[in-house]
Amino acid sequence: MNLVTMKLLFQDPAAYASKLLTVFAVDIATDKTPEAHPALLSTQDAITGAAAQWIASGEFKAALGETLLLHAPAGVKAERLLIVGLGKAASLSIHEVRKGAGSAVRFAKPRGIRELAIAFPDDKALSDEHSEALPCDLTARAIAEGAIVADFDIDNYRSDRKDTSMQTVTLVTAEADRKSQGELQSGFDTGVALAQSQNFARALVNEPGNVLTPTELGRRTLDMCNEVGLACTVESWDRIHELKMGALAAVAQGSEQPPALITVRYEPENAAPDAPVLGLVGKGITFDTGGISIKPADNMDKMKYDMAGAAAMLGAMRAIALLKPNVRVLCVVCSAENMPDGKAFRPGDVITAMSGKTIEIMNTDAEGRLVLADGLHYAQTLGATHLINAATLTGAVGVALGLINAGLFSNDDATVDNFTSGLKRSGEKFWRLPCTDEYRDQIKSQIADIMNTGGSRYGGATTAAMFLKEFVGDTPWIHLDIAGTAWNDDAKAWHSKGPSGIAVRSIFEWVRTYAA
Ligand code: BES
Ligand code: ZN
Ligand code: ZN
Repeated sequence: MNLVTMKLLFQDPAAYASKLLTVFAVDIATDKTPEAHPALLSTQDAITGAAAQWIASGEFKAALGETLLLHAPAGVKAERLLIVGLGKAASLSIHEVRKGAGSAVRFAKPRGIRELAIAFPDDKALSDEHSEALPCDLTARAIAEGAIVADFDIDNYRSDRKDTSMQTVTLVTAEADRKSQGELQSGFDTGVALAQSQNFARALVNEPGNVLTPTELGRRTLDMCNEVGLACTVESWDRIHELKMGALAAVAQGSEQPPALITVRYEPENAAPDAPVLGLVGKGITFDTGGISIKPADNMDKMKYDMAGAAAMLGAMRAIALLKPNVRVLCVVCSAENMPDGKAFRPGDVITAMSGKTIEIMNTDAEGRLVLADGLHYAQTLGATHLINAATLTGAVGVALGLINAGLFSNDDATVDNFTSGLKRSGEKFWRLPCTDEYRDQIKSQIADIMNTGGSRYGGATTAAMFLKEFVGDTPWIHLDIAGTAWNDDAKAWHSKGPSGIAVRSIFEWVRTYAA
């Protein structure tokens, strides 16, 4: 994992010597003056002076992620001034700032600039109607997040790889008084921890199936836990048999690779005995061929990312260990490889999950819900009072929501409210879809308690959620289907192609809503 040094410095940005100083701009055009009209988010004379001619030229529109580079800016100590657009002033929020910070890093990387500074955006530079869009702690946090997330690339297996990762990113701000200095610093530190944890998850997701087997996922989890001080156990066949995890076992039995049952615990010092215990459960299929119901060849390579739910949970646990919310959290990852083989489970098989429910297998490619069934049940036996799971569960969620929003399903509105309240800080997008009992017919089986796929392809993401719901009982529960959002097919100005690291930051926010 790249470890960029992130610094927060309280001094005049114009007087700070760096290879590149980033300053943000927004478009303040109105209905009356629709022509793009960029304005810098800076009140510093040296910076506004250096940029004035270019802002006036009209060649820079301040669209989100748009960049304009000025060499040797007059009156500014940095070698270069990079103006980064954040889009329309009227829609300015910390989420645009996060993307803007990312755009600066991704501008610098291919140019071999490995040290950059970012001037803290000053929304006082805007008229009253647009100012105060940027609370200072959340802005510092968003900048740290955007810069670190943008530093991630997926070229680690290329022999011709050049290390272009950032060495230092410095956030420079002149104006903070003592109170806001503390707020800035803590927002910034939170952002660093969250984004590094998100990149930890992304690095896991990017690993190919031959490298990241269930055993290897267990080993890397142990390393991470040792590093940040979490308790962790990694178990395999013996324990899975002992616990009667028939659903996880069925998926795993077709592979040469043994499955891994990974348990991570975070215990704050002062949690009350009757306080909530949050159970985070991840789908950790290290490669999904579909099994006997084998997938078509096209895009099967992508199925290395079928452990992105597990990675999201482990990334969230890492952030929790660093940021220490006062609430108990446990994490269960059920990891296996879904392979076709003489020993593989078949369509038509009837298996018994850990909960005792019998499941008729209709399609061995609907394996994620099987491993999660045992994971969700197991988390409750370990004491979880609230459950959240993340999984690349269905192609159907992408059909329903496109690749922008991830799917959210739940049996409890208050639990959903806790989750959605955090999205204004994380900036991630989740859209709630139904899993009410009208949909249960889809998983009714003739010969067993339930079957693992529905009779119809309509509402496939909800069918999968209905299956999971069978294993959570009355425990408040959220299911996040991240199949459409865990992998970015296209690069953006602020992030690379590849694993997105979705859900790490939002799960952390959800956890924090339960902290005493
Ligand atoms: N891992 C897949 C879901 C998936 C699809 C993830 C595309 C990422 C991108 C899952 O195990 C699966 O194969 N689901 C089936 C379910 C079907 C057999 C009911 C699907 O979505 O087609
Ligand atoms: Zn599958
Ligand atoms: Zn799968």
